[in-house]
Amino acid sequence: MDSQLYDVIHRRRDVRAEFTGAPVPDEVLHRILSAAHAAPSVGLSQPWDFILVRDAAVRDAFHEHVQRERAAFAAALDTAAAARFARIKIDGVRESTLSIVVTYDPDRGGPAVLGRHAIADAGLYSVCLAIQNLWLAATAERLGVGWVSFYREPFLRDLLAIPATIRPVAWLCVGPVTHVETVPDLERHGWRRRRPLEAAVHHDRW
Ligand SMILES: Cc1cc2nc3c(=O)[nH]c(=O)nc-3n(C[C@H](O)[C@H](O)[C@H](O)COP(=O)(O)O)c2cc1C
Repeated sequence: MDSQLYDVIHRRRDVRAEFTGAPVPDEVLHRILSAAHAAPSVGLSQPWDFILVRDAAVRDAFHEHVQRERAAFAAALDTAAAARFARIKIDGVRESTLSIVVTYDPDRGGPAVLGRHAIADAGLYSVCLAIQNLWLAATAERLGVGWVSFYREPFLRDLLAIPATIRPVAWLCVGPVTHVETVPDLERHGWRRRRPLEAAVHHDRW
């Protein structure tokens, strides 16, 4: 049993407030991208790409967009939820060292992707596995990662000149952190609690 792997899995957190902005050595960045690129993929399609975003002007523009989407979400909440949400930081776009945008190319490995004929989403699942590998590898490297999904895909496509057929799947803030919390931010802020494993496991039927 590889207990270090379990340790990393349980140490992993979504990070927003603890980024220091300190540099990430090239070899460390290469290791976490290699881990992402080693993910399983439907039909060996490897449908992911990674856009490394360091440009401060680009990150500022994205951050402004995220703030607008945050306001749109907040406007739909009732008063009590809006007050709780107001205390929650939802991104570290400007504070983290760099961002990694992960994309999905549905045409990669096509037209006959083995294993995707009945489930089109299997391509997207593959990209998410690459993201999880990246997240765990970054955790093993003592870096923080924060997934930001408060954006509209057309905006991000325009901002990063992503071709029309390619889908942005995640904006990940990445970099050294002061520390990693042991409890998810949303739980610490009373937004939502984790569900016990027993509630998620079913036997023989739903
Ligand atoms: C697909 C996806 C999108 C997410 N989007 C955001 C986001 O926009 N902002 C944010 O603060 N956290 C985001 N998160 C982080 C979750 O809130 C976090 O994973 C969850 O609360 C559990 O905390 P943990 O990752 O620290 O265990 C996202 C996570 C996933 C998997």
